[in-house]
Amino acid sequence: MIRIAPSILAADFGMLAKQITEVEEGGADWIHIDVMDGHFVPNITFGPPIVSSIRKYTKLPLDVHLMIENADKFIVPFRTAGADNISVHQESCPDLRRTIRLIKEIGGKAGVVLKPATPVKTLESIIEEIDLVLIMTVEPGFGNQKFIQNTLQKIIEMRRLIELTKKEIFLEVDGGIDRITAIDVINAGADVLVAGTSIFKSDSIKTAISSLRTAAIGKTK
Ligand code: DX5
Ligand code: ZN
Repeated sequence: MIRIAPSILAADFGMLAKQITEVEEGGADWIHIDVMDGHFVPNITFGPPIVSSIRKYTKLPLDVHLMIENADKFIVPFRTAGADNISVHQESCPDLRRTIRLIKEIGGKAGVVLKPATPVKTLESIIEEIDLVLIMTVEPGFGNQKFIQNTLQKIIEMRRLIELTKKEIFLEVDGGIDRITAIDVINAGADVLVAGTSIFKSDSIKTAISSLRTAAIGKTK
């Protein structure tokens, strides 16, 4: 099953609650929330108060993508605010195992994110403990960037690594996902698609979500 996670980074923040209702009614599975601190990435976005506001307007799982330094310090505040999935960057966590345990201890699903240049093998020794892997298909920091083609090979490798565990681990992709690139990432093995621009900047949110979902129909394996 393919899950669609609209990224609110591309939403109109002046009417965020309305836009969240629209994606929920349009068939979204998760709401993706990009947290940036101006240090780990050159952009600043939301903190826990935004997550707790969003929590009041939807029952969908909140998929929080932390692009921050000192992630450990913010895990409890984001979970308390209502985050369901909390994903941290491999590159920003000095003790990834400790961070994953912290997320799980407080009832969250633990995700690990890889930037485009970070190899799959960095997760080999820890994959069994992870609930979700997020492969960045653009450099983190901004929406509306072009999909990086050579990340497809990484998605294939990560799918292989996940299969070896025989566990249910989500394989999420994020950046430049539209109805065309969706077909490629699904064929490579992704099962959760994050999409900002192609959903929120489209003429119809509902049509955009269903066209991402129908990309799965062209799946070759
Ligand atoms: C980028 C963020 C993405 C971003 C994707 O750092 O992690 O979630 O919103 O935006 P699009 O779909 O516009 O590439
Ligand atoms: Zn993201």
